[in-house]
Amino acid sequence: MHPKLSTRGLAKRYGAVNALLPTDLDVLPGELLTLLGPSGSGKTTLLQMLAGLVEPTGGQLFIDGKDATDLPAGERGIGMVFQSYALFPHMTVAENVGYPLRMRRRKPAEIDADVASALAMVKMDAFGARYPRELSGGQQQRIALARCFVYRPGIILLDEPLGALDKNLREHMQGEIRSLHRELGATFIYVTHDQDEALSLSDRVCLMNDARIEQIGSPRDLYDRPVSRFAANFIGQSNLLDGRVDAGGFVWRDRKLAVADAGANSLPKASLMVRPEVVQVVPAEQGILQGTVRELVFQGSDIKLIASLPGGEEFSARVSCKTPHPQVGEAVGLSWDPQHAVVLSR
Ligand SMILES: Nc1ncnc2c1ncn2[C@@H]1O[C@H](COP(=O)(O)OP(=O)(O)O)[C@@H](O)[C@H]1O
Ligand SMILES: [Mg+2]
Repeated sequence: MHPKLSTRGLAKRYGAVNALLPTDLDVLPGELLTLLGPSGSGKTTLLQMLAGLVEPTGGQLFIDGKDATDLPAGERGIGMVFQSYALFPHMTVAENVGYPLRMRRRKPAEIDADVASALAMVKMDAFGARYPRELSGGQQQRIALARCFVYRPGIILLDEPLGALDKNLREHMQGEIRSLHRELGATFIYVTHDQDEALSLSDRVCLMNDARIEQIGSPRDLYDRPVSRFAANFIGQSNLLDGRVDAGGFVWRDRKLAVADAGANSLPKASLMVRPEVVQVVPAEQGILQGTVRELVFQGSDIKLIASLPGGEEFSARVSCKTPHPQVGEAVGLSWDPQHAVVLSR
């Protein structure tokens, strides 16, 4: 499949600051890709260069295989939604949504029909005559979405569009964005710093760190096979042991721990990642590691058991609330299937 949109060496510097290092990215037609990363990692800069709102200092952008690096923003077939809804306060909802169509000089009758169907898609059909100040935050964001896709752009960019909403509404709107994405069939690129949002929305996640792509893949790939300590820490919870790889095993404090694929090379510095949910708490002598229960944190669906290892490091497991579990101060063994332990080389 040819990419809908590609960058080759696309980069942005502000003086001495690299906002985005030279970046290659391919986005497939119709996929929902999220740009996930901490604040300042370059997500907005990348998105705005795709939209044509920020001029790159290097590299190229291709849309549908054609060089679009110097194409004006209005000719890229790209719609954009921001965290601040940026609705026009003096226009009604219907006028706001119809604005991109009036700009494109479409016939009034067509505009009315398309505005009505866009409002129906975001379940705001009854609100066309209201002004933005008469709407809640969630309703305003729906109108901003409708105004973006009313003219059916092939690519829709969303920069933290739900960032201003509270948790319940945000989760509800995530569901709506997923179904809008299915209905529209457009290519979505969605910026967020929220890992849960990225994992639940995306076909693929592009994890960004320090002005570059750290890892790109399906939510499962990133969760199960992080490539670095940064990726392991940013997505989900993880236990990390620092050691080295030698003769196909992971060496931690002069002990060799079995791993499924340590690779052929020995590594003088590596980490072993074990997700808490794959750790079993067993009698001390049966564990791969031995520790002492330091804390039990009730988390609703289960309990996070935090053990201290002899060197003082923390190591966590999840235990069920429904079955007996060890108490604080008890010695425990920690065990896991080596298949689920991931060696990180950086
Ligand atoms: N207009 C600008 N002038 C100077 N530096 C900028 C500008 N815009 C962004 N930056 C810098 O570029 C880096 C990436 O910013 P940004 O793309 O906004 O990150 P994110 O969206 O991931 O939070 C940051 O270090 C930021 O301070
Ligand atoms: Mg940003």
